[in-house]
This record gives sequence, C-alpha cells and structure tokens, in this order.
Amino acid sequence: MAERLGVAIVGVGGAVATTAIAGIEMIKAGSNSLAGLPLAGRDIAGMASYRDLEFGGWDLADDTLGNLALRHGVIGEKELADGAAVLNDMRPWKAAGSTGYCANIDGGNKLTGGHRAAIAQIQGDLDRFRRDKGLDRVVVVNLASTERVPGADDPALQSRDAFERGLDSDDAAISPAMLYAYAAIDAGTPYANFTPSVAADIAPLAAFATERNVPVAGKDGKTGQTFMKTVIAPALRDRALHVDGWFSTNILGNSDGLALDDPKSLASKLGTKGSVLDQILGYPVEDHIIMIHYYRPRGDDKEAWDNIDLTGFLGQKMQLKLNFLCKDSILAAPLAIEIARCLDLAHQRGEGGVQEQLGLFFKLPQTRGGAPEHAVPEQQLILDRWLDRRDA
Ligand SMILES: NC(=O)c1ccc[n+]([C@@H]2O[C@H](COP(=O)([O-])OP(=O)(O)OC[C@H]3O[C@@H](n4cnc5c(N)ncnc54)[C@H](O)[C@@H]3O)[C@@H](O)[C@H]2O)c1
Repeated sequence: MAERLGVAIVGVGGAVATTAIAGIEMIKAGSNSLAGLPLAGRDIAGMASYRDLEFGGWDLADDTLGNLALRHGVIGEKELADGAAVLNDMRPWKAAGSTGYCANIDGGNKLTGGHRAAIAQIQGDLDRFRRDKGLDRVVVVNLASTERVPGADDPALQSRDAFERGLDSDDAAISPAMLYAYAAIDAGTPYANFTPSVAADIAPLAAFATERNVPVAGKDGKTGQTFMKTVIAPALRDRALHVDGWFSTNILGNSDGLALDDPKSLASKLGTKGSVLDQILGYPVEDHIIMIHYYRPRGDDKEAWDNIDLTGFLGQKMQLKLNFLCKDSILAAPLAIEIARCLDLAHQRGEGGVQEQLGLFFKLPQTRGGAPEHAVPEQQLILDRWLDRRDA
C-alpha cells in the first residue's frame, strides 16, 4: 500500500492553503490536470505522490475551509460541490496567534496560555493528525499571514539556551511563527516556511534543526514578480546588459495584501524581495525600487509591473517592460505542495538541517551560513541534481 504523507499547514484557511488542498483533492477525485505542478512530470524514487497527501492545520479563522475558500474567491461553488467537497467538512485547529506580530489579522480560533502550552498543543495536534488519518509521515508548512520583523537584537533570539529560557518566560520576542517551527522541529517533523516571517531562519532554530537532524527550508515562496526577476536578471547578466535601475510595483486585493497593508508586515516582505538582484548581477543596483499596494478590486488577481533600465553596447540606453497579470494563489499553491514533498524526501533520505537545494522555491533561500543563490537557472540545476541523486 502507498505510504501517506500528512501536510499540516499553519494558516490552513488562507487563500494559498485552501487552493492547494482543493487542487490535490480534485486530483484524488480524478482530475487529470497536473498543470502548474513543477515536479509532476518527474519520476523521483521515494517521493510521495499527489494522491497520497492528506491535509490538516491551524488557523485563527473559525469556519469550514469551504466557506473560507469561497471568501478568497480562487476556487468556487463548482469545485466545492464536486472534487473539493471535503473542504466543506474540514475545520482548522486552534492557532497560536498574536496581533503584536500581525496587526491586521485576528480571529476567534485562538489558543490561550503561554509559549510552552502552545507548543504542547501544536505537537498534540500533529500526533492526533497522524493517528486519525493513519499517516506514515507528516510535514509542517507555514502559509500564515506575514508577521512583522522581530527585534534582531532580542536576547532570546541569540542562542539555543536563551531561546529555551525565552519559551519558559513567555518572552514577547518569540513570535507565533517561531513557536510552530520549534514545535515541529522538536517533534522531529520537517518544517517549511513559505512566508516572509522569521521562523526557522533564526540561529537558535536553525541550530535546533541541525541538532535534531530535521529538514527545514524557507523562506517566502518565489512565485510571481521575484520569480520573473530571477529568471530575467541572469539572462541580462549573461548578455552583459548593464542594469541601471529596476522599478517593480504590484497591486493585490486578497487578505495577504491586507496583512501587508500593515507597514511592519510589509517591511518583512520587502526584505525578502529586495536582496536578489545584486547577488545575481554581481554589482549593486542602487535604483532597485519595490512597491506593494493593497487594492481590493483585484482580489487574488495580482498585477505586477517591472520597468528595467539597461545600458548596452556603445553605452546605448534601453528599457524593458514586464507586466505579469497573475493569480497569486494559483502560482503559490503548487509550490507549497512540491516543497512539502521535497522536504519529506529529504527526511526519508536522512538529510537534516537547512535544505539549501530547495532554494529555487524561495525568494530568500535559507542557507547553512553562506550567501544564497538567487538565479533561477543555477537553482534549477542544484535542485535537479539533488532530486536525481547526482549530487551524492
Ligand atoms: N503568491 C502568493 O500567494 C505568495 C507568495 C509568497 C509568499 N506568500 C505568503 O504566503 C502566506 C499566505 O498567503 P495567502 O495569500 O494564503 O494569505 P491569506 O491571508 O489568505 O492566508 C493566511 C491565513 O493565515 C491565517 N493566520 C494568520 N496568523 C496565523 C497564525 N498565527 N496561526 C495560524 N493561522 C494564522 C489567517 O487567518 C489566514 O487564514 C503569506 O504570508 C504570504 O505572504 C504568498
């Protein structure tokens, strides 16, 4: 019998999460469309198949996933009446949340008590999920709203010991995203961070993952504008076209956009989007400007514009304009699914700590200490070698 992989999602009621779950349920129900799933055409020994995935997770919102999905407007009544009907019976587990970390997002489905109690509850949920669904293995994926950046100098975030003491004293420097990451690593469960929030990338949690040999990966899924940027920039570099400036702007109207309407959450996002160009090009682009605007009429249909000013042969100036009319969650959901399958594969192969080979999927790839690779062609080669075990 095929082995079953549980995917426990932080933010299971969100647009990306409900789209991912609906998509897999529709595949299980007989849909033949594997479009948009980057690893669908590959035969990778040991990787869980799409049909063997089961979902559960935490959310502050207290409603069925079906109702929550309808509000996001990505999947509709038709899908919920047909292949994705199971979402109507799924409800989120109680979440560890804090308006101190995510000002615009709150809900009634919230855990009370301190840090240690939240961790025990999260681990209890993972155990129950595994038992109730008869799962062979579980991974945790963070798809929750973007939190503000924590204080980089907070003593509790400086070492493993200080972090443990911070948990004991309910230190406010420890965010909900960190609690989920800690709970997963402590339970020996692989953890991925698809959001810009700080989680397993702080030194104490990265060290904890290495110590326990648990795979972790992050952060911030590379789906739309940054994906295009890291495809185009290597090509401009290789043609020796100098980038004088790169102006990027976005409008979006989903609840991710609402979360990012809080300047502190926005700062996290701009932090993960901003660092890619200089690494790829090998020189600083001083006029690299990125803007994100919450604009309700667009819902999940995000629109991104890029204007690139270039200098070519004989110092002649040129411009490149890019206009990506994308669907935020339709781009993101398949990546979240592939990340879960890859992390599980790493776990089965006995590979723990930061999984650098998954950098292709992230705007700010977490590393074991070195500078991250951002260029898509290079990242794709690294991932392919690992999937085919050519890196061994
Ligand atoms: N293309 C994309 O959509 C994309 C790309 C990269 C990264 N991301 C990131 O993925 C995340 C999810 O995006 P989305 O569009 O699904 O957002 P969303 O706002 O639709 O969903 C987020 C969900 O998380 C829940 N939540 C918030 N805090 C929580 C907590 N502490 N515990 C449990 N649940 C919590 C919210 O109630 C909500 O249901 C965001 O952080 C976003 O920045 C999205």
